[in-house]
Amino acid sequence: MLTFKYLLILALALSVQAVLGQIPEEVIILNEDRIWPGSLNDPNNNNCSKALPSFREYVWEDDLYNAQATADAECMATPISQQVYQTAGNMSIVTSQSGVISNYNHSLDLATAVSTTTYAYEGVQYTRTAFASHPDNVIVLRLSANASGSITFDATFETPMSIPTFSAEGGNLTMTGQGTAMYGLPGSINFVVKAEFTVSGTMAKVKATSNATSTVSISDADEALIVIAIDTNYVRYDDLSADPNEKVTQTLTNVRGKTFDDMLQTHIEDHSSLFGRVNISLGIPSSNTFLPTDIRKNLEDGPDADQDIFALYTQYGRYLGIASSRNMEPSNLQGIWNQVLSPDWGSKHTVNINQQMNSWFAEPLNVAATLDPLWSLISEVAERGKNDALETYNISRGWVCHHNTGIWRDSSPIDAAFYGFWPYAPAWLLQHMYEHYAFNPDPESSFLKDIAYPLMKGLSEFYTDFLVEAPLDVEPNGYIVPNPSMSPEHGIGDYNDTNVSLTYGSTIDNSLLRDLFNHTAEFAAILGVDDDFAANLSALHDRLIPFRIGSLGQIQEWARDYGSNGPFTHISQLYGLFPGAQIDPRFNETLAHAANVSLLLRGDSSAGWPTAWRANLFARLLQGETAYYYMTCLISRYSYDNLWSINSVFQIDGNFGGSSAVAEMILQSHNGEIHLLPAIPASWKEGSVSGFRARGGFTLNIVWSGGILSSAKLTSTLGTFARVRYNGTAIDLSVQENGSVVLSLSDFQ
Ligand SMILES: *[C@@H]1O[C@H](CO)[C@@H](O)[C@H](O)[C@H]1NC(C)=O
Ligand SMILES: *[C@@H]1O[C@H](CO)[C@@H](O)[C@H](O)[C@H]1NC(C)=O
Ligand SMILES: *[C@@H]1O[C@H](CO)[C@@H](O)[C@H](O)[C@H]1NC(C)=O
Ligand SMILES: *[C@@H]1O[C@H](CO)[C@@H](O)[C@H](O)[C@H]1NC(C)=O
Ligand SMILES: *[C@@H]1O[C@H](CO)[C@@H](O)[C@H](O)[C@H]1NC(C)=O
Ligand SMILES: *[C@@H]1O[C@H](CO)[C@@H](O)[C@H](O)[C@H]1NC(C)=O
Ligand SMILES: *[C@@H]1O[C@H](CO)[C@@H](O)[C@H](O)[C@H]1NC(C)=O
Ligand SMILES: *[C@@H]1O[C@H](CO)[C@@H](O)[C@H](O)[C@H]1NC(C)=O
Ligand SMILES: *[C@@H]1O[C@H](CO)[C@@H](O)[C@H](O)[C@H]1NC(C)=O
Ligand SMILES: *[C@@H]1O[C@H](CO)[C@@H](O)[C@H](O)[C@H]1NC(C)=O
Ligand SMILES: *[C@@H]1O[C@H](CO)[C@@H](O)[C@H](O)[C@H]1NC(C)=O
Ligand SMILES: *[C@@H]1O[C@H](CO)[C@@H](O)[C@H](O)[C@H]1NC(C)=O
Repeated sequence: MLTFKYLLILALALSVQAVLGQIPEEVIILNEDRIWPGSLNDPNNNNCSKALPSFREYVWEDDLYNAQATADAECMATPISQQVYQTAGNMSIVTSQSGVISNYNHSLDLATAVSTTTYAYEGVQYTRTAFASHPDNVIVLRLSANASGSITFDATFETPMSIPTFSAEGGNLTMTGQGTAMYGLPGSINFVVKAEFTVSGTMAKVKATSNATSTVSISDADEALIVIAIDTNYVRYDDLSADPNEKVTQTLTNVRGKTFDDMLQTHIEDHSSLFGRVNISLGIPSSNTFLPTDIRKNLEDGPDADQDIFALYTQYGRYLGIASSRNMEPSNLQGIWNQVLSPDWGSKHTVNINQQMNSWFAEPLNVAATLDPLWSLISEVAERGKNDALETYNISRGWVCHHNTGIWRDSSPIDAAFYGFWPYAPAWLLQHMYEHYAFNPDPESSFLKDIAYPLMKGLSEFYTDFLVEAPLDVEPNGYIVPNPSMSPEHGIGDYNDTNVSLTYGSTIDNSLLRDLFNHTAEFAAILGVDDDFAANLSALHDRLIPFRIGSLGQIQEWARDYGSNGPFTHISQLYGLFPGAQIDPRFNETLAHAANVSLLLRGDSSAGWPTAWRANLFARLLQGETAYYYMTCLISRYSYDNLWSINSVFQIDGNFGGSSAVAEMILQSHNGEIHLLPAIPASWKEGSVSGFRARGGFTLNIVWSGGILSSAKLTSTLGTFARVRYNGTAIDLSVQENGSVVLSLSDFQ
């Protein structure tokens, strides 16, 4: 079932919003992903490279207080905070229906991305239908009723943004505004929101009132159609030359004359071309399947009574990705849905886990196109990151960024050294570029040659110049180490009454560097370029500190076995288990066991995204029941009624991370094997999925019954070799280009 009910309704693609489904006053929250405050500046701190030798010396001496204090004093950006994602404002639709409402239903159909609100008032049935069309670049809302002349309302815009203006003329309602000034930087992004109202019905009237607030009033219509366009002056972070008024006018001109049904059809064709690639069924639908999500997520009989909610949740993640990461910007911390000037955590692109988690589901769940905006963002951050490398670290080769970025593509260390002095975020971002190729390994692709490899090469050059050899009294083996280094946001302990995070050789940093060097060398070999450079990277790879097992039997989090092992949200030291593949229970039980110890020490977390992270990690440890436990927590405890994921506030990474975890429970494909049903829990007895992707360019349909594989169909896009594993047995296959192979249980016996 792809329909459901919730309090807040989401929708829409590039420029959109939430339809609240309220009576008597409907509110449509309007977002455009380039409405941010501030303006471009140079935040880099030129003092840092001079201070770095003494920073490093403090680290070698394990004087972490003075190390961190040095970085705070000499290395951080100005301003110290980055700009945040803002809102366009609301359209408010006020009716006089203040009496008793019945038959209320508010739903979103994931397959069509159409939101519908229906209700009865004084004997008339009202219907509001809304969608945000990616191809037409508009939000469309239709108000109708089953009795003629029943549609009467006043529509206005409101916004918290700077220098707002409102005007109304005929059936047009327009609002303009500007990104606010923030952290000392003047606002510079201008936007225009324009709505066109058309009505039908013999008694219908449209009246515009232009004053300080401006209203379009519709009365006695049979039906009203509202088409909304939003645009900005933003072209790129360094080009604000567009005319937003011209852009919205053009957008609205392009759809003028199209009927609601025309626009709906264009929208559904576009959305379903992505959404329709995957079907998921987990368990036989029951009466619970048809309940609204606010009830389904907390059924008294527990999640086993409604396994199909895990399928809904997974598909919802795909819907949210398609709706928030199509056109221009990748989904941010709140996807694209924000109604305030200064959202919690800035609703930025946080790149020490959250943006990466946002992208995990896209490859295995067959919507890789939703990552295109991420590739653009990384490329632009790398442009600014070249200057960061030079100004902050005095390194003239390559580029760098730290733990956050946004519309200005800022790359410098922000917030405080404890959080921000972490120049390894780009290695994690580029791991996802490597995966993008791994899922569709076409050596002729321009993605490999023109986008991924140049960025990977540049970043490898930066680290080649940035990493240092540890003194032999610190590390006797002549290791090359990252210093500074941290396990993001996790404190090592108190030094001089101050919690510190910075040291050398954290496990995540070593793991990220191993992947980057290894993958860059692999791409160089595929492209037949840069032999010596690649050989040097392989040599560097071998001089990084390997995984260490700590005093509690855990994957040690830093080069030194500091005592900080208790509960915490982040579990960065297991990057090598997931999304990396350096720890694999099928090939090294010692490391897998230590990873399990780390997970138990970390314990549960009381927020969505860390719970989703744990579900993925346990899936990679092939522990289906534990992964399932975290999925049930994610849905029942850490979801709002509309299934948005909860951090301290709504944060969308939990949704995307949860979708990814379900995918990892059903199919894995790292380290050269396609693994069928590696971690399904006992309660997903009956299931089928289609359209899942596996590394190597495969699409899979899998069916199981009684918890046992019935059939698996592999289709190869590229024609290649595959090793397929099920329940302890791996078999080798060769599949022709665009050919298919169907396997059954007997193939693995
Ligand atoms: C760099 O150091 C100089 C001299 O101490 C100081 O005046 C300046 O404010 C520092 N720059 C930054 C960005 O902190
Ligand atoms: C609410 O609307 C959805 C979508 O049209 C539909 O599937 C569902 O059955 C409706 N629920 C009720 C209680 O009418
Ligand atoms: C319109 O819907 C209302 C509420 O569901 C119903 O009572 C009424 O009979 C319907 N009217 C017509 C003309 O269908
Ligand atoms: C927009 O609507 C939301 C939800 O009702 C509300 O929280 C917010 O304050 C509104 N914004 C403005 C500018 O009125
Ligand atoms: C409404 O705006 C459109 C441009 O978007 C314009 O062509 C039309 O003349 C406007 N109508 C009125 C009544 O201003
Ligand atoms: C603008 O006009 C509307 C409709 O007549 C009215 O309700 C509103 O109070 C007016 N607002 C201002 C600020 O004059
Ligand atoms: C998903 O199911 C629908 C309805 O049965 C079917 O038309 C469609 O082809 C299926 N899609 C895939 C990818 O299997
Ligand atoms: C920056 O690097 C250049 C070339 O390696 C060197 O000559 C210069 O002294 C360095 N500047 C600082 C401030 O460390
Ligand atoms: C501890 O901090 C105080 C100031 O807060 C400073 O004076 C002192 O030098 C620090 N001690 C060490 C060992 O860093
Ligand atoms: C990448 O790492 C794997 C596993 O450690 C190793 O077998 C392979 O040779 C490495 N590739 C390169 C190009 O360094
Ligand atoms: C497993 O990993 C550990 C730690 O890196 C290593 O010492 C050991 O040799 C590995 N075992 C196997 C079987 O590869
Ligand atoms: C896995 O294989 C074992 C025998 O090796 C068998 O007992 C077990 O039932 C199989 N499990 C599944 C889920 O196929």
